[in-house]
Amino acid sequence: MAAFRFSGTFLLLALLLLVNKAKSQLFIGVNYGQVADNLPSPSSTAKLLQSTSIQKVRLYGSDPAIIKALANTGIGIVIATANGDIPALASDPNFAKTWVNANVVAYNPSSKIILVNVGNEVIMSGDNNLISQLLPAMQNIKNALDTACLGDKVKVSTVHSMTLLKQSEPPSSGIFDPSYGDVLKGLLAFNNATGSPFAINPYPYFAYRSDPRPETLAFCLFQQNPGRFDANTKINYMNMFDAQVDAVRSALDAMGFKNVEIVVAETGWPYKGDSDEVGASIENAKAYNGNLIAHLRSMAGTPLMPGKSVNTYLFALYDENLKPGPTTERSFGLFKSEDLTMTYDVGLSKSNSPVRKLQLLLINSINQHTSPVSPSPVTPSTEPKKSAWCVPKTGVSDAQLQASLDYACGQGIDCGPIQPGGACFEPNTLAAHAAYAMNLYYQTSGQNPSSCDFSQTAMLSSNNPSTNGCSFPGGSS
Ligand SMILES: *[C@@H]1O[C@H](CO)[C@@H](O)[C@H](O)[C@H]1NC(C)=O
Repeated sequence: MAAFRFSGTFLLLALLLLVNKAKSQLFIGVNYGQVADNLPSPSSTAKLLQSTSIQKVRLYGSDPAIIKALANTGIGIVIATANGDIPALASDPNFAKTWVNANVVAYNPSSKIILVNVGNEVIMSGDNNLISQLLPAMQNIKNALDTACLGDKVKVSTVHSMTLLKQSEPPSSGIFDPSYGDVLKGLLAFNNATGSPFAINPYPYFAYRSDPRPETLAFCLFQQNPGRFDANTKINYMNMFDAQVDAVRSALDAMGFKNVEIVVAETGWPYKGDSDEVGASIENAKAYNGNLIAHLRSMAGTPLMPGKSVNTYLFALYDENLKPGPTTERSFGLFKSEDLTMTYDVGLSKSNSPVRKLQLLLINSINQHTSPVSPSPVTPSTEPKKSAWCVPKTGVSDAQLQASLDYACGQGIDCGPIQPGGACFEPNTLAAHAAYAMNLYYQTSGQNPSSCDFSQTAMLSSNNPSTNGCSFPGGSS
């Protein structure tokens, strides 16, 4: 018994380390827009964020109440200067110092400010005076942060809309509109020299609106679709998010900035719209955000940036009821301002997160080790006559495996075991992770052979693919 206790404790410690490792590898933030008169209190918002696996929050300003409420939560905070402050920040280094002291230094280090965005979508504003002052304003903010010895901790950037791209299809041909050339070059040289990210707002939703065909919807929602082939790179893109992010990658590379990191400052899908706003529904919003989160958690990255998830800020935390325009503008909220419940469930709740599931899995396994007579609840009383597992066919492309993985994990199955630290993380290959997820999807959707199709890339097998430590559930065929 003592030996069991000891190994149980040891196991627990080892597993907690793994859990922390897994946790630090999540890349999910959320946008907190405040164009509303019905927002919850800052402390309620801080509690809400802590109950989720959201790691970072982006503000469009620097509201002291929310920055203070997030103190000692570990949640990263992105703040922004107003577009209207750009001329003064550009012309007066002391104004920049005062701004940094009041909005960053005053809260450091208890509130974890990680990025200052100077203005929002300035280049697209068409205001040439403002555009010409953007880079000097960023430089003055950067100098003020350096003076305060925060230059390494707090980066400086600005946010762009996708309309900055002149061309985005196919992704390899992505280029920025040359009319922004010189301004953009200056900003990118700043990003490159200071190690700050290039922040941009890809919205597959708008791509679908301009091309509302069912196959475009499936492509935008990470659902099963034939993909879009990029003849230059021979990559078959399986979802619009990857295609848009890789178009930005290509545009940055074409200007020589291969090392500048991309951050998705906003992406989302409205759950409600006017009758002429195609595609805005709870079902689609849930599919987009849920499948996007699963895609990010899979750590697949994009075809041009594999193996690492793009830092992504979901739009948005709450609806903004005072925003003008069509209904969709006021209908992006993931949580309801009135009672902080989920508008729809995309698996952000901590009790539902892969990390939490891993913790429960570990606690259960420890309990089983330490309790001498606990019968295993999952062992069936009689052996099924014949077992079958759903596995990928041989020769399936990585893009298709990734699409199947994203799809399966987006359907509410527990993909925690294939997260870093999970029992089935090793072997850490796309094929193995896809096989795990596809099989689990098949087993949990009634073992109907049609659930083991995945666009004809999967088949039933009687060979148990389980490995040491990783058990693939199997049922009778
Ligand atoms: C980016 O920064 C690196 C390191 O500071 C530098 O060597 C390189 O020339 C820069 N690239 C561009 C295109 O400015």
